[in-house]
Amino acid sequence: MFSGRWLSRAMKELSELFENNRRWLEEITAKQPDFFEQLAVQQTPEYLWIGCSDSRVPANEIVGLLPGDLFVHRNVANVVSHTDLNCLSVLQFAVDVLGVKHVIVTGHYGCGGITAALEGKRLGLIDNWLRHVQDVYQKHEREINVIPTMDARADRLCELNVIEQAMNVCETTVVRDAWMRGEKVTVHGWIYALKDGKLRDLGMTISSPEEMRSAYQNAVRSSR
Ligand code: CO
Repeated sequence: MFSGRWLSRAMKELSELFENNRRWLEEITAKQPDFFEQLAVQQTPEYLWIGCSDSRVPANEIVGLLPGDLFVHRNVANVVSHTDLNCLSVLQFAVDVLGVKHVIVTGHYGCGGITAALEGKRLGLIDNWLRHVQDVYQKHEREINVIPTMDARADRLCELNVIEQAMNVCETTVVRDAWMRGEKVTVHGWIYALKDGKLRDLGMTISSPEEMRSAYQNAVRSSR
């Protein structure tokens, strides 16, 4: 049972969020009074962001985009799995219906999901999800295991995970079909550093099936 005091504290904390919301919308409408009316009619984002759920990696803020500019899918460790109906549906809607021009997979250093996968930590149900990251680790085990420190190994797995997940985006029927139709969709792999707020391109930029192989090899080589 929740005590009355606990409940009133929780309500107060939540009411702050509503106050924040009022302030936020006032700031936006001060600059553009019809901002929300315009957006309510339709969204035309150019970008799909596939990132980690981590609270320290808020998609829009990092790239300075307003509501309406970025279509977003986030899950633990920014995984793109070919059997994840949620992620695939977001991708399909973004590419086929909204017509986004760029699909950006963004990982981040210091990712708890990546560290857990690397160390084989047992956290519960999520271990099954992180199995996808362990597959990436296994694929690149020889390279990762010779890195001297655990922190540097985790950083490297964060990068390689982005590269592999961006490849998974390219392998989906959604992106392959879009390319076959001659649509200009480019897939990117980026990584964000929690400690300084900087975003870095991993050199993984793919706009056609022909570019996949060399882009992958370059990214794996040059991001090291
Ligand atoms: Co993370």
